[in-house]
Amino acid sequence: MHSVVNANIINSEPYLEVDGISYLSGNIKISGAKNSVLVLMAASLLTEEKLVINNVPELTDIAVMSNLLQEIGVSLYREANKLYLSSNSIKITELPYNLVHALRASFVCIGPLLARKGEVKIPMPGGCRIGARPIEEHIKGLKAMGAEVIIKDGVVCAQIISQRKRLQGAHIKLNCQSVGATETLIMAATLAEGETIIENAAQEPEIQDLANLLISMGAQIFGAGSSKIKIIGKQKLNGSIYSAIPDRIEAGTFLIAAAITRSELSLSPVIPAHLGAIIEKLEECGCSIDIKENAIKITPGKELKSVDISTSPFPGFPTDLQAPFMALMATAKGTSTIIENVFENRMQHVSELKRMGSSIHLSGNTALIEGVKELIPSCLSAGDLRSSAAIVLASISTKGRSIIKGLHHLDRGYENFEEKLNKVGCNIVRKGSKIYQSETMQKGLEDFTDLNQEVA
Ligand code: UD1
Repeated sequence: MHSVVNANIINSEPYLEVDGISYLSGNIKISGAKNSVLVLMAASLLTEEKLVINNVPELTDIAVMSNLLQEIGVSLYREANKLYLSSNSIKITELPYNLVHALRASFVCIGPLLARKGEVKIPMPGGCRIGARPIEEHIKGLKAMGAEVIIKDGVVCAQIISQRKRLQGAHIKLNCQSVGATETLIMAATLAEGETIIENAAQEPEIQDLANLLISMGAQIFGAGSSKIKIIGKQKLNGSIYSAIPDRIEAGTFLIAAAITRSELSLSPVIPAHLGAIIEKLEECGCSIDIKENAIKITPGKELKSVDISTSPFPGFPTDLQAPFMALMATAKGTSTIIENVFENRMQHVSELKRMGSSIHLSGNTALIEGVKELIPSCLSAGDLRSSAAIVLASISTKGRSIIKGLHHLDRGYENFEEKLNKVGCNIVRKGSKIYQSETMQKGLEDFTDLNQEVA
């Protein structure tokens, strides 16, 4: 065994104690896609009727979005992985700074609120740890649809100026394939007057998921999942009962967990077509992948070889799996080049992986990784959501105990992460608790008693 990390450096902040292991086995259940569900929740603002979303993971990001929607006036009730929403009475169209800042993705509320209420004020979400994350594509598209948008004192103020009080269909060409901007504009266009075309649209599976929900609410949307999407606006949308897709990033992360421990694991449910890029790279480095309907089994070779990756929009290699994949490459044979093309500051895991004895040379957004025989347990701190998963994976591959802090990042986006890993053989103990801030969601059950029986 390598040395055990000195416990004196730990303060009262929650942390994980990870005892590295050599072998995992079994099946991991994949949760609903966080990035989808956040936007599906925002889509509830488009209708006066009730919406039920199934397959909702329990995560801090979902809790923050729930709190924000409640501030806006949405009634919410959560029962296990089902979320009931009713946006019958929207109280405010001026969104509170603290909640928008706590969750950057909440900016997509701009589209539905503007389309439904004719005005919205939403604080600029600002940059975050992984990059500047501008929003000009959202704004440009809404302006093309007839909205007046000004930014005053850091707040985006948008209103519909047309006499008819509806957004107008428009032909919009995005300058970059922004997932968020595509979602904002699809939602806005569903209630606009006439036809909207979005060119150079993002093609991520979460866009298709949003379109499928909206179609089930009565919207007319064609081409979601391709780079050209057509939406024919409706006066109103209805309620719906809908299940979110499984989380492809969570699934990719667990495939990498299997690879980094050279263990055989099965995952389900997954949509294999959403995992093409990661499957291709895992096969290239020496893993064998077996797909049966909505289940995937990975059997890594004894020795994995280094491969290069370069992140890009779907169907390219997802930026959200870049950090976990780098952890894997740190233990593979040979030299790997990893280029991050989507976000300008998404290499925060490099310093932590280096602390574990990996050999990484970083130049701008290009990392050159020389695989080492094994990583060394260490005391680590997560810098962002996907980095946190990367360093947990690196830790389970070591012989010895690592300490991982910065768990608020992990809890934003991975449901029961350590519990799921422990179930297949890991030894991870959380010291301190998770906080989901979702207590207020228990309010409002009475609003949904009619739906309860329908969706039971
Ligand atoms: C979403 C995902 C995130 C993922 C990312 C890329 C959610 C909640 N988050 O983030 O996990 O990593 O897609 O797959 O779904 N850009 C502009 N101008 C804009 C908007 C974006 O230049 O107006 C740029 C960004 O700086 C970035 C790139 O476009 O370089 C992609 O960003 P975007 O697709 O918008 O990411 P998000 O929707 O924020």
